[in-house]
Amino acid sequence: MQEVRSWSAPTRGLHALMLLMFIVMYALAELMDWTHGASKHEVVEIHKSIGVLIFGLALLRLLWNVTHRGPEPIGTPQQAKLAKGVHHLLYLLMFLIPVSGYVMSMLHGKSVDVFGVYTLPTLLAPDHSLKEWSESIHSALATTLLIVAGGHAAMALYHHFMLKDATLRRMFKG
Ligand code: HEM
Ligand code: HEM
Repeated sequence: MQEVRSWSAPTRGLHALMLLMFIVMYALAELMDWTHGASKHEVVEIHKSIGVLIFGLALLRLLWNVTHRGPEPIGTPQQAKLAKGVHHLLYLLMFLIPVSGYVMSMLHGKSVDVFGVYTLPTLLAPDHSLKEWSESIHSALATTLLIVAGGHAAMALYHHFMLKDATLRRMFKG
């Protein structure tokens, strides 16, 4: 039987909030290429701070969803398995992208100052030979998220407009 139960309010709230935060993160990454000097520094600092916040929220969201099971994906068992696999991959990326940004900052010899309130510990010494490599990893992971989340959103819209089921509504409307 198809499940029509909605996702819990905290899950829906975090899903929508983090979606907005990711849009801001990609916009800031784009802005980095358009700015120079002190303004670029400001943009990078905000990018890093929001990124650390995303990591914390992802952790909260994961803990909440593990302890408060959401509804099963609508569709055949194979489709449900695929949808769940994609959700797991999205979680992995929500953790790996901020971690790769943190590693990149340390290899550059830059501290990660979260909104000027808390500085993350420096766990790695600056390393010029690994600097560019870490940049490529961060950028590749961010591109992977764009592709995977794009496919995920497209499937949600397909469910809503073509299959006309409750998938999108139960995540965005409750
Ligand atoms: C416009 C963009 C997006 C749309 C329309 C969308 C839509 C949805 C819908 C409808 C569900 C519920 C699926 C179901 O009931 O089977 C869902 C779940 C989920 N979405 Fe999205 N999504 C979007 C963006 C994102 C992004 C950017 C991420 C992560 C970076 C994400 C991560 C997840 C995860 C992990 C779940 C499972 C529930 C949870 O653990 O919070 N989504 N999404
Ligand atoms: C959480 C989600 C995040 C997303 C989606 C994201 C995405 C991006 C993207 C798309 C770029 C541009 C890469 C390129 O040049 O192709 C970038 C650059 C960068 N990110 Fe992130 N990032 C995130 C988190 C973080 C975090 C947590 C940190 C550090 C603590 C960080 C540090 C940086 C730095 C230092 C750059 C390069 C700035 C420069 O050009 O000097 N990012 N990020």
